[in-house]
Amino acid sequence: MGRRTGEPPISWLMKTALARPNLISLAAGFTDNPSLPVRETLAITREMLGDKDSGEAALQYGTTAGDAGLRRLSAELIRRQDQGAKDWRYSADRALITNGSQQLLYLLTECLCDPGDIVLVEDPTYFVYLGIAQSHGLNCRGVRMQPDGIDLEHLEEILVGLKRNGELRRLKMLYLVTYYQNPSGITSSLEKKRGALELLRRFEKHAGHRIYLLEDAAYRDLRFAGEGIPSALAVRKFADRVIYTSTFSKPFASGVRVGFGVLPEELLSVVLRLKGNHDFGSANFLQQIVARALISGHYDKHLLALRRTYRQKAEAMGAALDEHFPAEIQWAKPEGGLYFWARTPRSLTTGMQSRFFQAALAGGVLYVPGQLCYCDDPSRRKPNHEMRLSFGSASTERIVKGIERLGRVLRKHLN
Ligand SMILES: Cc1ncc(COP(=O)(O)O)c(C=O)c1O
Repeated sequence: MGRRTGEPPISWLMKTALARPNLISLAAGFTDNPSLPVRETLAITREMLGDKDSGEAALQYGTTAGDAGLRRLSAELIRRQDQGAKDWRYSADRALITNGSQQLLYLLTECLCDPGDIVLVEDPTYFVYLGIAQSHGLNCRGVRMQPDGIDLEHLEEILVGLKRNGELRRLKMLYLVTYYQNPSGITSSLEKKRGALELLRRFEKHAGHRIYLLEDAAYRDLRFAGEGIPSALAVRKFADRVIYTSTFSKPFASGVRVGFGVLPEELLSVVLRLKGNHDFGSANFLQQIVARALISGHYDKHLLALRRTYRQKAEAMGAALDEHFPAEIQWAKPEGGLYFWARTPRSLTTGMQSRFFQAALAGGVLYVPGQLCYCDDPSRRKPNHEMRLSFGSASTERIVKGIERLGRVLRKHLN
């Protein structure tokens, strides 16, 4: 596994951004610094450690599944967002707490997949997940995206192809980032999730095992426009095939790094055994901070302000794109999350090795090359003419300046 695992591109991007302060990074998925809940966390910590009993509890080991209160609060959060009934789908007994949702994505992959197995992903997808898949020796297939989620006809085509080639038994799950997707900003409609679940179920008998839908809802709370959309758990008939993961990193504090999920019972027990081997439980101290933020109302208040901030930053980026990007570049304004996704004409490649990427770097601006977000799928060539632009961590002023710099480089290269 060590030999198989390549260096994650995220490490290089983060290192480059940190080492060059004059570089405007629109690359990293960092959150907005001035919005981080410093005062709230100080107040919570004071209160928590001000009492001997709660202080001792917070500084002690916890359980592998996580704090019972936080598990209940997390499951309840999903239920409220889904406007779901109080039933088994949102039971705290199905919930667990992890070190960021990244750990949960890793554990699930470790639990379900052997080298050579297949995972279906969106095309493009969250590139750090592709690192997990590569490390585990998995074969990924990309499902084309439409403005409201995956193309179901393409999904069916892929499933038929796998069946024909006798490969369905290697297919373990479909991984979807369903809200303001990283990297494309796309949100999946409930109809698309229902359609995907129906298709997976139809092909299960040929696979000989369950094929799960892994719904990564990391950006769900960061909605600043549009309607809230229920998760795949709302599709009651197939909810036992849904694995739901999310995080308090983006909506609260990425430095606290507390993730959560609800899992089908048969997976939860195995994932907990694996987590027991990894760390036998996430830091209790951090979990208590999040639980207290949720109970006290600090979390909701913070989120309201945060959504306003991201809406303003997204508007600033949109306006700068309008002003500084040539008309040939396509992009759409997201309704939440942290990213814009911009597409250049095919003649202009944006990958890390491209002249354009190097010129952007020399011009003082960094973006995530779209190519990194596509899996190695033998059925198509990797697209190489997109950029992920984040408005998360840079100030509004630097966002505008960064887009202006990028616009200048674009104009030069398009000519
Ligand atoms: C789509 C997606 N899922 C999961 C994560 C993991 O975040 P964390 O481990 O902080 O919860 C990220 C982080 O950027 C992400 O973009």
